[in-house]
Amino acid sequence: MAIRRVSTLKTAADLSTYLDALGVSLPFDETVQSGTDAPLAQRCVLGKRTIGNRFAVLPMEGWDGTTNGRPTELTKKRWRCFGVSGAKLIWGGEAVAVCPEGRSNPNELMILEETVGELAKLRKLLVQTHEERFGSSDDLFVGLQISHAGRFAHPYDKKRLEPRILYHHPILDRKFGLPSNTPVMTDTEIFNSINDFIKASVRAQQAGFDFVDIKHCHGYLGHEFLSAVDRTGCYGGSFENRTRFLREVVAGIRAEAPGLDIGVRFSAFDFIPFEPGEDGRGKPTPIDGDSYLYAFGSDGSGLGIDLTEPLAFLDLLMKLDIQLVCISAGSPYYNFHIQRPALFPSPDDYLPPEDPLVGVARLINIAAQLKRQRPQLIYVSSGYSYLQEWLPNVAQQVVRTGQADFVGIGRMSLSYPDIVADILTGRQLRRKSICRTCSDCTTAPRNGMVSGCYPLDRFYRNRPEFKQLRKIKSTK
Ligand SMILES: Cc1cc2nc3c(=O)[nH]c(=O)nc-3n(C[C@H](O)[C@H](O)[C@H](O)COP(=O)(O)O)c2cc1C
Ligand code: SF4
Repeated sequence: MAIRRVSTLKTAADLSTYLDALGVSLPFDETVQSGTDAPLAQRCVLGKRTIGNRFAVLPMEGWDGTTNGRPTELTKKRWRCFGVSGAKLIWGGEAVAVCPEGRSNPNELMILEETVGELAKLRKLLVQTHEERFGSSDDLFVGLQISHAGRFAHPYDKKRLEPRILYHHPILDRKFGLPSNTPVMTDTEIFNSINDFIKASVRAQQAGFDFVDIKHCHGYLGHEFLSAVDRTGCYGGSFENRTRFLREVVAGIRAEAPGLDIGVRFSAFDFIPFEPGEDGRGKPTPIDGDSYLYAFGSDGSGLGIDLTEPLAFLDLLMKLDIQLVCISAGSPYYNFHIQRPALFPSPDDYLPPEDPLVGVARLINIAAQLKRQRPQLIYVSSGYSYLQEWLPNVAQQVVRTGQADFVGIGRMSLSYPDIVADILTGRQLRRKSICRTCSDCTTAPRNGMVSGCYPLDRFYRNRPEFKQLRKIKSTK
């Protein structure tokens, strides 16, 4: 069945008929309420703090820091936009590296002794912008996502992968050209990395952040631990060993940054890496045999979901007194469609192997299943931008019926920074600002440029990179 553009589904009935034809079930409220009684405007209590509504801005990296890890004017522009979004939970801002070699690219922000002051100013800028627009920031909760890119580190040259791997992966090593003698991180190096996460958290607290997100998603280091099933030693093999990194980081933060809240964004399920088939559509990479071990939250086939370990992970978070979780999936490096469903992927990616609405429903429904089974935690669910005009309808039912506590907004917060404010005040959505998942914000950094919403944000459209992007897209 040909993929229909969401913008052509003009009525709720059109959407419903189309979803039925796809065999997809999505939460949906026909009428979206606004004002203080609206489900999405309700407060959420977290310990002694109150978070003012049910929207979160998801972490969105811009590839635009200085090469010594400091924010630039472009970074500040994005954080100001997060401040005016209207969302009261800022989940991490963007990935911020805990050490130079852990950067996914040479322009990733870093939280080091010498940059902490600038990160404090960046947070303050977001908070002040929020106060100017909404009057108060008492109910705003701002976290910092602390990260090590692990297997996908490009710390010193955008084009040179300098991977820090936990095990040799039979598909990813080949896909990314890793020689068989690429060293695996030793337990001592892991110990040092744990210390980097702890120091980063102490600095995040100094900088005024309310919480740190110990990133465990998208194929980066934290996530790779979860699938290190055949690593030997105390950080691989059993579930207990694969979560030791998290436990040790948390223990260090509790000891050295008491009072700092902790959240974890994790890929709650993963699939086998995908690659383009003959028609360009994504297909699972062929494997020897029929079992695939390296997808956390998968059923062993690499294409099905088994929540046994993700639920055990949530139990562990509860034991560690962590309440905040953000549910994502897979990795943009090898199976983007399960993580950021898009109709128009980056030219170097495969074409969507499924209607992106299938991917959206999978993400939302898995978060809902986890919430149902472990209701004690506070959940942010992800993957809503592809819903476009229908985002508010789905968001409202998700929150109203307790399928997640917060709706996370990623790409849409780049194309339409104040969409949340518009939803909450009942303003008609500005169609020309709605993200159509063209993937320019991903294609640009993959080609060495800063990220941003090139087609819809005039600021980026007027930059020289926009022409470069069009050229890249027309030649691939
Ligand atoms: C340009 C870009 C940058 C991103 N940067 C991060 C990041 O730094 N950390 C992270 O956890 N996720 C990152 N993501 C993933 C988003 O947070 C989000 O999970 C994803 O885009 C799906 O949500 P959406 O459908 O609302 O866009 C990024 C996505 C994009 C498109
Ligand atoms: S560039 Fe803009 S419209 Fe395109 S996917 Fe990114 S946010 Fe959406």
